[in-house]
Amino acid sequence: MEQEIDLDKIDLNAEPPIEEPDRQYYYMAKCREWVREFEQINGRVPTCCVTTFGCQMNARDSEKLTGILRRVGYEVTEDERADFVIFNTCTVRDNANQRVYGRLGELKNHKKRNPAMKIALCGCMMQEPSVIEKLCSSYRFVDLVFGTHNIFKLAELLWRCFQGQGMVVDIWEDTDQIVEDLPVERKYPFKSGVNIMFGCNNFCSYCIVPYVRGRERSREPGDILEEIRRLVSEGVVEVMLLGQNVNSYGRNLAEPITFAQLLREVEKIEGLRRIRFMTSHPKDLSDELIRVMKESEKICRHLHLPLQSGSTRILERMNRRYTKEQYLALAEKIRREIPDIAITTDIIVGFPGETPEDVEDTLDVIRRVKYDNAFTFVYSRRTGTPAAAMADQVPEDRVREGFDRVLKLVQDTARERVAGYQGREAEVLVEEVNIHDGGLLTGRMSNNTLVHFPGEPELVGRMVRVSLDQCQGFYYMGHMKTETQSPDKAGGIL
Ligand code: SAH
Ligand code: SF4
Ligand code: F3S
Repeated sequence: MEQEIDLDKIDLNAEPPIEEPDRQYYYMAKCREWVREFEQINGRVPTCCVTTFGCQMNARDSEKLTGILRRVGYEVTEDERADFVIFNTCTVRDNANQRVYGRLGELKNHKKRNPAMKIALCGCMMQEPSVIEKLCSSYRFVDLVFGTHNIFKLAELLWRCFQGQGMVVDIWEDTDQIVEDLPVERKYPFKSGVNIMFGCNNFCSYCIVPYVRGRERSREPGDILEEIRRLVSEGVVEVMLLGQNVNSYGRNLAEPITFAQLLREVEKIEGLRRIRFMTSHPKDLSDELIRVMKESEKICRHLHLPLQSGSTRILERMNRRYTKEQYLALAEKIRREIPDIAITTDIIVGFPGETPEDVEDTLDVIRRVKYDNAFTFVYSRRTGTPAAAMADQVPEDRVREGFDRVLKLVQDTARERVAGYQGREAEVLVEEVNIHDGGLLTGRMSNNTLVHFPGEPELVGRMVRVSLDQCQGFYYMGHMKTETQSPDKAGGIL
């Protein structure tokens, strides 16, 4: 969280401090001088735009980037014709990469009209050497390139950019550093992501994340709790604890602690109403966690439990370290212990060597678990991962066929699950005024289902009780009963 540091008190004639975050505050102060000069010359404040691709981790990183830019004095906009534009990129599947290249073409046109514009790229895609080569040879209009490990250094890199020595490239291969206490600008005033760990050690054979995000590092529980307390004091009522595999949180700390123990501590924070987390790896999900979820008044009734494949043979080749039977037993135990819980998942179709029988196994798991929602992906070959080198890549038409079958079934079962809540009451966090109809509010149930209902805009950010009148496929139309002041799970309330 941000320290109360007065940038005006920093001596800019002194050498830059070596220690973080002091060093970054020094560069923020320097950049702010530049911004003031810009303002004097141009009669306006420079604008910046941070565009996010990819997952919640990237979204949270973007809030950190935006926080630094705002502190430096930039006006934040969503318009990509801004004076400084950052693309925070994703590379988990090839289509994520292609989108970035496509959008870069548009930025080039904006820069032609505003030659003083600066363009930066950061995030997961930048950790791939082939991407950097391509940028250096064919995208010379990009001013700044950095990766996932040095996001905190934005002010320093921006300063180097202002010195105008051509493209600045700063990529770290890995890091064990976690820099705390930098500014963050939250997208929503009432809910926030909170990183509890970075990186991943699992090396699922299809996945590039461990290569681009580095080894697993947990934050100190004290730092996490302090951040959440601070967020709550600023009006946040819901936090989403973020990690690639939250179930292995804390194992490598000097004083080890389990994820379940961390949750118990987060639960105690007064004023916090809801706790979510993402993502749980099935192989590490403990009975202790199920118990804590069951006993909790604040942990949401939602578990994202990526399956990837229902075939034990494919799971083994994926290096997921569980079998179909183990996954099913786990899902059943969770449903038994926490009956109203929504289970959602990720599924990959077309992993090398996948046969129609393997797809049948996946369909079988979907039928049995009855997911409330599922993200289905076509397998994407990621250079450098073990699966990319496997000989038996599946032909595209066969992948399509399997994909369509999986998609249809997850949609049918999800519809059925969601429809089952009809007529009940749910506690809903109001997130926004409905974008299509200003008379409606849109909120989220504890189990992550969306509900639209008539209400006043002042209720955004508040918890209300809503009756679920009409299921519309994957969401509900409802009407509001009352505002709720404290966690309210009793008497059949969802
Ligand atoms: N850490 C999380 C997932 C992060 S990536 C976990 O373990 O569940 C999000 C999802 O992208 C994964 O769950 C997987 O379904 C999908 N994914 C990852 N690599 C992929 C690839 N090469 N092709 C297709 N989908 C992929
Ligand atoms: Fe990728 Fe597996 Fe790590 Fe998730 S757990 S980020 S799928 S390697
Ligand atoms: Fe993409 Fe990186 Fe997240 S590759 S899915 S943005 S961790």
